[in-house]
Amino acid sequence: MHYFRISVVVVLLANILFVSITAKSYEGYKLYQLTPKGEEDINILQNLSKQVERFDFLNSETVIVEPNSLKEFENALEKYQLEYKLLDEDVGKTLTRNFEVNRLMKTLKPYKGQERLSTERYYSHGEINAYLEYLAQTYPQRVILKTMGYSFEGRALKAITITNGQGSYDKNVILVDGGFHAREWISPASAIYAIEQLVENFEANKELLADYNWVILPVVNADGYEYTQVSADTRMWRKTRKPLFHEGGICYGTDPNRNFDFHWNEEGASSDPCSNTFAGPKAFSEPEAMVVRDLIHTNSVKGQMYLTLHSQGKLLLYPWGWTDALPDTWEDLHEVAAAGADAIYQATGTNYTVGSSTTVLYVAAGASDDYAFNAGFPIAFTMELPGAGSTGFDPPVEMIDELVKETWVGIKAMGLKVIEKYPVV
Ligand code: ARG
Ligand code: ZN
Repeated sequence: MHYFRISVVVVLLANILFVSITAKSYEGYKLYQLTPKGEEDINILQNLSKQVERFDFLNSETVIVEPNSLKEFENALEKYQLEYKLLDEDVGKTLTRNFEVNRLMKTLKPYKGQERLSTERYYSHGEINAYLEYLAQTYPQRVILKTMGYSFEGRALKAITITNGQGSYDKNVILVDGGFHAREWISPASAIYAIEQLVENFEANKELLADYNWVILPVVNADGYEYTQVSADTRMWRKTRKPLFHEGGICYGTDPNRNFDFHWNEEGASSDPCSNTFAGPKAFSEPEAMVVRDLIHTNSVKGQMYLTLHSQGKLLLYPWGWTDALPDTWEDLHEVAAAGADAIYQATGTNYTVGSSTTVLYVAAGASDDYAFNAGFPIAFTMELPGAGSTGFDPPVEMIDELVKETWVGIKAMGLKVIEKYPVV
């Protein structure tokens, strides 16, 4: 009941801070949405997207342009008659405002452990680990928590195994992860909500645990995730944080979702350590990707579904992502994904697109979904949650609750379909 009053205070304080704090690195950056009218427009955009420092493409049609390149960008819009919309004329201001709101929420609603996490704000990796520890202590008969490895900076990557407590005879497995890409904050939030539903709302979800165990790693790229929480300037970080020394100097991080040893460093991945889609110096160079690899192999015999949560795009993507060819079993993949998309549509009206990664989105080799599918999971998906906030990566805190609940509707529907299709033998 005090909630309303608190949120009013938050908004007011945030506005004051918003005026008094000026953004640094994203100050004056503009965000554009482009609508290509044909092949030619698409080629123009693809060429622009190669200049990663100047034009940061968040997806194939949304781009952040840095101040010194604005003139040239606007000239190109004019010259090629590209259809566009200016979505945000100062990305820095927006990022700072959202960042400060979250920081204030942190002060007003500190997490001291020993209780559930709310959907009122985003949480740090440390807070998420504390929550997992609390679950393991509170539900020792149903929850197993295991540190699978450590991030480059030494953060414990903890996977939670959720069971119904009736012994783990040869049950099948659903493996879920989140937080591959640092800035996609709604992904760990959704993974946490799924964990909470399976553990703390067990009665309502126990059919999901009758013959199946769920293994969930909510934050894969813990270092990157923490880095995005340092300041508004680092909010848009995507990769891991391991530095790589190269001829031109140092660049930080590898795209963990290009680092898997399956068609590694082929199409849609970059060999440039400064690129946002850098595949890494070699396959599995990143400890974070190794942890997911090990989870995949540990569960590849019993594992029936691998689901990796990303944002943004309202997409349910299945293999392949390294080629535009479809796997022989694409109809099974499509059926399960469609069950998720339909359930979401019924629940909220949000319209997910279902299809293969390459045909629906773009080709990107060396990703975890293709790796899991190839390793034996009959179902493997990337779920791109809806974008929100100006960049799509910063859903305001008031939207967390509806987004994670909607995502859970989809995950649950896909889980039920998988359980029906792949019964324990
Ligand atoms: N947005 C995700 C990425 O870029 C999509 C990955 C889809 N899967 C794939 N194998 N390409 O990493
Ligand atoms: Zn992503």
